Amino acid sequence: MKRIPVLIDCDPGVDDAAALLLANQIPELDIQAVTTVAGNVEVEQTTVNAQKIRSLINGTFPIYRGAEKPMVRTLVTAPEFHGADGLGGVFLEMPQESMPTEKAWDAIYRIAKAYDGELTLITLGPLTNIGIALAKYRELPALLKRIVMMGGAAVGGNVTPAAEFNIYVDPEAADMVFCCGVPVVMCGLDVTMQAYLTPEETEEIGALGSPQARIFREIFQDSMKKCLAWGRKGVALHDPAAVLYAAYPDLFTAEKAGVRVETKGMLTVGKTVTDLYSDQKFEERNAFVLTDVDRAQFLKTIRMILARYGNQSDAAFG
Ligand code: RIB
Ligand code: CA
Repeated sequence: MKRIPVLIDCDPGVDDAAALLLANQIPELDIQAVTTVAGNVEVEQTTVNAQKIRSLINGTFPIYRGAEKPMVRTLVTAPEFHGADGLGGVFLEMPQESMPTEKAWDAIYRIAKAYDGELTLITLGPLTNIGIALAKYRELPALLKRIVMMGGAAVGGNVTPAAEFNIYVDPEAADMVFCCGVPVVMCGLDVTMQAYLTPEETEEIGALGSPQARIFREIFQDSMKKCLAWGRKGVALHDPAAVLYAAYPDLFTAEKAGVRVETKGMLTVGKTVTDLYSDQKFEERNAFVLTDVDRAQFLKTIRMILARYGNQSDAAFG
C-alpha cells in the first residue's frame, strides 16, 4: 500500500480528538507530525489535549505547538461547545513528557522540505500556523502536495450565518491558504453537516469496547446533547470527515471551484466565497469543495477503523 505522508494541524477540540483517534488507525495515512493552534480553546490547552490523545492512542508522532492567536485579529474560542478543557470534560491522563521547542510553522516547513512536494497537510482548526509558515517560507507552496482543510461552507455558516468557525477565527490566514497555489480540498459544512453521528451510532461505537472506542463515545456526550437540543439528528463529525477524505476520497463527492475568503465584510467576515453556484466563475479555480458524503459508508468505515484498536478484523465490517 502506498502510504500518504500527512501532517495534521488541529485545535483539539472534541472532533479534532476524534479525528486523531481515527487517523492513528488508518494505515493509508503516515502521520509525520501533529501541530496545534489556538481555536476551540487556547493553544496551551489544545496542545495538552493533543498530548493526552497521543498517549491514549499510543501515538509515536511528534507534536509541535503553534500560534496562540490569529495573525491579525483577537482570538475567538468555542468552550461553550467543546467544554472549558476542549475535550467535553472527559478526563484523560496527562503524560509526563517534554515538548519540542520547534514552533509549528517551522516544523511544517522542515517536514514539507524533507518530503519535497509529497506532504499533505490536513488542517482541522484555524489556518494561523499555515499562514505564518507561508509568510515565513516563500517556497513552501512548492513543497506541499495538497491541503485537505476542514473549514468553510459554500452555503451558510455556524459561528455566524455566513462563516464557519475555522475560517472565521483567522480569515486572513485562510485566504492566504486559498491563494497560495497549493491544491486545496475544502471539507466544509456543506458535507460535514451530513456526516453526523446519532446517539445510537455513538453507543454502537462505545460498545466496540476498547479504551479508545469508549473515549470516542465519551468525548461526544456533551456536544451531542447540545446538538439534539438544537433539533439536529446528531453531532457533526467535522474533523473526522477531513481525515477520512484524505484516506478514502471515494466516500465523498467533490466539485472544482474557485474559493476566496471575505476578510473585510461587517456581516460576512470569514465567509468562504465560492463560485460553485454562481454563473460568474473566479479566474483561479483553486479548490475542490466537498458537497456530499455516503453517510452509511462513512459510518461503517469509522466503526471499522475504531475496531482496529480492539484488534477486530476489518472483515467483520464487510
Ligand atoms: O466548524 C467546525 C470546526 O471548528 C471544527 O474543526 C471544530 O473542531 C472547530 O475547530
Ligand atoms: Ca477543529
